[in-house]
Amino acid sequence: MAEQIPTVEMDKIVSLARRRGFIYPGSEIYGGISGCWDYGPLGVELKRNIRQAWWQSMVRERDDIVGIETSILMHPQVWVTSGHIERMVDPLVECKNCHLRYKADDLQGNRCPSCGGEFTEARMFNVMFKTFIGPVEDSASVVYLRPETAQGMFVNFDNIVQSTRKKLPFGIAQQGKSFRNEITTGNFIFRSREFEQMEMEFFVKPGTDEQWFEHWVQERFNWFVKLGIKREHLGLNEHSKEKLAHYAKRCIDITYLFPHGWAELEGIANRTDFDLKQHSQGSGKTLDYYDDETKEHYTPYVIEPAVGVDRSLLAFMCDAYEEEPDKEETRVVLHFHPALAPIKAAILPLSKKENLSVFAKDVYKDLRPHLAVQYDDTQSIGRRYRRQDEVGTPFCVTVDFQSLEDKRVTIRERDTMNQIRVPVAELRRTLTAKLEGEDILVLPPGGEVWKIERGDKKQ
Ligand code: GAP
Repeated sequence: MAEQIPTVEMDKIVSLARRRGFIYPGSEIYGGISGCWDYGPLGVELKRNIRQAWWQSMVRERDDIVGIETSILMHPQVWVTSGHIERMVDPLVECKNCHLRYKADDLQGNRCPSCGGEFTEARMFNVMFKTFIGPVEDSASVVYLRPETAQGMFVNFDNIVQSTRKKLPFGIAQQGKSFRNEITTGNFIFRSREFEQMEMEFFVKPGTDEQWFEHWVQERFNWFVKLGIKREHLGLNEHSKEKLAHYAKRCIDITYLFPHGWAELEGIANRTDFDLKQHSQGSGKTLDYYDDETKEHYTPYVIEPAVGVDRSLLAFMCDAYEEEPDKEETRVVLHFHPALAPIKAAILPLSKKENLSVFAKDVYKDLRPHLAVQYDDTQSIGRRYRRQDEVGTPFCVTVDFQSLEDKRVTIRERDTMNQIRVPVAELRRTLTAKLEGEDILVLPPGGEVWKIERGDKKQ
């Protein structure tokens, strides 16, 4: 098979992200802070939409998964019991010449890639951030910023069973910040020190775990495809026994062809009964399950799909990016799935003349409570279309002088650049239907039959 080449360079994504207010370097005016990023107005919308799409498919559309939001700071014993204190360590080496530090696992040769210098012996470095709880900074008050959200779900297993009466198989889902003091960060937001995860712990009867594992690999792969990532840019990579995390019996990564090459996008692990058994022992509280049907007590196995919000955002941006030759200049388009697009429609009056502005602003205000819309009346209409294409807005609504007469506006589609003219009274319904992937049957002006047909839903 021919080797695949990434379709966009990272520099282009970084530059677009910064220029258009998706992502800025953290604390930039102080020179930045390595591995930390700030999300701008479009970045937060995109992030929210990713979280929302995940929550929708993992929690809202299922009756076997419930949500939870647990504290970032947990009892320090959690991390002893879970094995993170002992095992969440990376081998750190330092160049004796330029003093750059590297994760030994990431290196190809045994010389510093920057200056060719010799390395120190590897020493093990725990990647959890430490802080102190309360006013006294002593060893008794040490707590950790969680390096994964998963432990919050394990320690609440019994609370969920008791309060929801859920029967196996069922899952607990959580989204939230995690922190890792990574030795090397880089490739933009791909690996950072503060990031957000979306994890789901699916508790199953032992013996059914292999089958559920396969199920979740498939489900999660399809989620990315449904949201627009090209199938050929996704892969699956099973971890070898030596590479498996200390808690896992099997792990498959969903990989993506990032600008820096194929890399993990999401991991699906079979965590067996490791965590629940460890916490049962560590806390003294039995964390097992009573099966009404078989009248047995057992410790469930856990299948865990775990993905980063930031890393998915990077994949969605890279995959959506396209440069198209245009008459005067290149047209840059982000072909975001409508569910992810930060702005769903832009309202563009053809001129700033007062009567047109008043009309266009009314159109905008009517849509605003229902859709993420933007009003833009600066520069030429062509430039405004380009600006919206570049941030992935699926629809531009143009208001012209004819609109004042016939109370119709033009919808221009980002991907096809096709235009249709619709009555203002039908605009919201039409945009909503189009965003949901329904076909619209438009009759010429005058023929007032208006029909929205169910087409191929995009999601
Ligand atoms: N609970 C299992 C767990 O945390 P992981 O493979 O270490 O597994 C899951 O992390 C996902 O979280 C990764 O696939 C990635 O998407 C994201 N992730 C992990 N470390 C990250 C980092 N330093 N920066 C950004 N995202 C990260």
